[in-house]
Amino acid sequence: MDDKPTKRLNELEKENKLLRCFRDISKILVSSDNVDEILLMTVEYLALYFNSERATIFLIDEKKKELWSKVAVGLKSEEIRISIGKGIAGQVAMTKETIISNNVYNDGRFNPDVDSKTGFATRSVICVPIYNYAGNMIGVGEILNKKGSNFTDDDVNQLSLLLPQIAICLMNSVLHASLSNHFNSVLRVLAASIDARDPLTAGHSERVTKYSVGISKELGLQEKDCEVIRVSALLHDYGKIGIEDAILKKSSRLNSIEFEEIKSHAEKTRSILEKINFEGIYQDVPEIASSHHEKLDRSGYPRGLSGNEIPLGAKILAVADVFEALTAVRHYRNPILYDEAFAILRDGAGKHFEKEIVEAFISYFERECLSSL
Ligand SMILES: [Fe+2]
Repeated sequence: MDDKPTKRLNELEKENKLLRCFRDISKILVSSDNVDEILLMTVEYLALYFNSERATIFLIDEKKKELWSKVAVGLKSEEIRISIGKGIAGQVAMTKETIISNNVYNDGRFNPDVDSKTGFATRSVICVPIYNYAGNMIGVGEILNKKGSNFTDDDVNQLSLLLPQIAICLMNSVLHASLSNHFNSVLRVLAASIDARDPLTAGHSERVTKYSVGISKELGLQEKDCEVIRVSALLHDYGKIGIEDAILKKSSRLNSIEFEEIKSHAEKTRSILEKINFEGIYQDVPEIASSHHEKLDRSGYPRGLSGNEIPLGAKILAVADVFEALTAVRHYRNPILYDEAFAILRDGAGKHFEKEIVEAFISYFERECLSSL
């Protein structure tokens, strides 16, 4: 009997399975930018697809000359690290040659350290190098303990087809995580540098940020909008860096020239922040941050915008900023009580502030901050 149709059917089934695996893994990759989460979920699919007990994707840590990954240990996940050259994965990373071993404990290249750490008993393994588009090796992928049979060259071929796609997304998330870490530490240093000018107002930017994010969540804004408002709040007074100490820290009343100088911090905030390359969701940060002294009735500064011209984020910052300034110690007066500050905010609703934002702030503050005092 001609076995060609059966053979073709088998091939089609295999292709179908591969496509399904691609599809399932792609869903994970686009749904998260958390590297640990992607690693753990992807390997679960890989293990399932290859009818095996476990899969691991190791990424190369160039600085330490190690492979690292997250593996599930019981209900938790743990980071494991392997020196390049050590064990089967380490060998593959060093030689860039694929390894198939169907009896690891008789294989001199096997290193049982990971097994003893995770409590897993490896029997068989395929391990292949992973390359990025530029042809550089960025890690290795391995599948462990095929159920009921041995690993074959066919398994290796299929794994080699799947891994580059996964690897690219993983590298993107690694890059994204390290950029956002870097971005946030720069932001914190910037905000602290304004507060450091004056011990009496230290913590102002952090508190305004906390209140602004609280209001944004209370209003049910999307996560990305809350994030933009968080960054704008941290930097809202950055322009004060350009105001001289004698005016910034003056304890008596400011004359009109000095007051104009203080007011210029809003426009200074804009011109400094516009020099920072805020992109994507962050592109409105300079506009939001520099509009925190605008008022609904056009009597604010620096541009005298009217209600619907003021960005929502700036209206939120305005409420948080005024409340913080009223309830914290200042050079020119003592703090006032929370209830008095609420009354001032409510009095300004419709003229200075958006009523809905004032009410959102008060309910957030009463629930989240007053109860913890
Ligand atoms: Fe300000």
